[in-house]
Amino acid sequence: MSTDADELVLAGPRPLRGRLHVPGDKGMSHRALLFAAMAEGRSRVTGLAGGEDVGRTRTVLRQLGVEVSAVEPGALVIDGTGVDAFTEPGGIVDCGNSGTSIRLLTGLLAGRPFLSILTGDESLVERPMARVVEPLRTMGAHLDGRAGGSLPPLVVRGGDLVGCVHHLGVASAQVKTALLLAGLQATGTTEVVEPAPSRDHTERMLTALGAPLARVDERAVRVTAGVPSPFEFAVPGDPSSAAFWVVAAAITPGSELVVEDVALNPARIGFVDVLLRMGAAVEVVTTGERLGEPVGELRVTSGALHGTTVEGAEIPSVIDEIPILAVAAACAEGVTAFRDAAELRAKESDRIATVAELLTRLGVGVEQTDDQLVVHGGRLQPGDVDSHGDHRIAMAGAVAAGAISGETRVRGWRSVATSYPEFTADLAALTGERA
Ligand code: S3P
Repeated sequence: MSTDADELVLAGPRPLRGRLHVPGDKGMSHRALLFAAMAEGRSRVTGLAGGEDVGRTRTVLRQLGVEVSAVEPGALVIDGTGVDAFTEPGGIVDCGNSGTSIRLLTGLLAGRPFLSILTGDESLVERPMARVVEPLRTMGAHLDGRAGGSLPPLVVRGGDLVGCVHHLGVASAQVKTALLLAGLQATGTTEVVEPAPSRDHTERMLTALGAPLARVDERAVRVTAGVPSPFEFAVPGDPSSAAFWVVAAAITPGSELVVEDVALNPARIGFVDVLLRMGAAVEVVTTGERLGEPVGELRVTSGALHGTTVEGAEIPSVIDEIPILAVAAACAEGVTAFRDAAELRAKESDRIATVAELLTRLGVGVEQTDDQLVVHGGRLQPGDVDSHGDHRIAMAGAVAAGAISGETRVRGWRSVATSYPEFTADLAALTGERA
């Protein structure tokens, strides 16, 4: 294996063996920072995701006047003073590549009586924002942006909000959370109804922190004005990061791996169900719970896989894992279809197109439509692939490369810093290679 700043060159196959911790869950890290800032008092968070996305949210808190300090290695102390003490940002709020930062912050800042301007990198400024802007307008917030408020930069003139019932057009935890954060600052009740359940970290964590939030049914949640309590939280490992190793071990003969202290929220580990249907040997062992979130181990050994279909309400539970599941599909016998997956086109890259290109360059048969990706399993061949600036495409490329005999080159490797800067070092540790 060799890397320069923006390229990984890897020749496989090499079995992955051992135990590892993946970085803290990205979604929970963003939420822990925001909820601690909204609380009144001192919170202490360990194991935060170290990637650039969470770094963006942390920087924004400083722009809002919230004191965040690294008192000891691996731990952050946030001195929350409640949202009323937030100050108007003196400059542009730069969310970088982070969709979670821009959408959650737009909801939070919609209730603040000042002006915020939020933007991001060349990928983020092309991602859809009407899904948060339009429902926030119905609560009384003044928002604008490019293309009538559907693309960043977004301009938020926050103020008094009134709760209402929102029926979302897409199952999106980012949109749901933005509206719940606005609802915590609104008069009356705010209810969010989704077409299918999305990940529920916000509901679990805010309930554990005593905020006035109630689940109506599996697709609907309600909130009234309130404040989360300060807390201590050790962020569990990110299952979306763990998924790369689980698939790598499943497809590389001779592998045996345990991912420790990983978040096991059922809305996040849909990829395990998909892999089990494909014939993989994966075990989920729950060992505890933190802030309402189940935590434990994922154990995996290599074995033969076969194709499956992933569609409908299962899609939100695997939305970030489809790139790596497509690599598993490429190594499986038969055909795997991902259907009802149009949301993939609105991620850090157009992931139907970028996954199709990745696998095609590695000699795999792929078909795509507006909302589908169909992978014809077979033998992967070495090749040159490109992340298109998308961290999950880069890591999917690395896992595929590790399963192929012959040298594969992943260009745009720098993008892994978005969520998993330690990926190359962990790969080296698991395969016994030098990074
Ligand atoms: C996230 C929700 C998902 C996911 C994203 C993180 C979150 O997006 O793709 O990586 O932290 O809430 P959507 O909610 O837009 O589907």
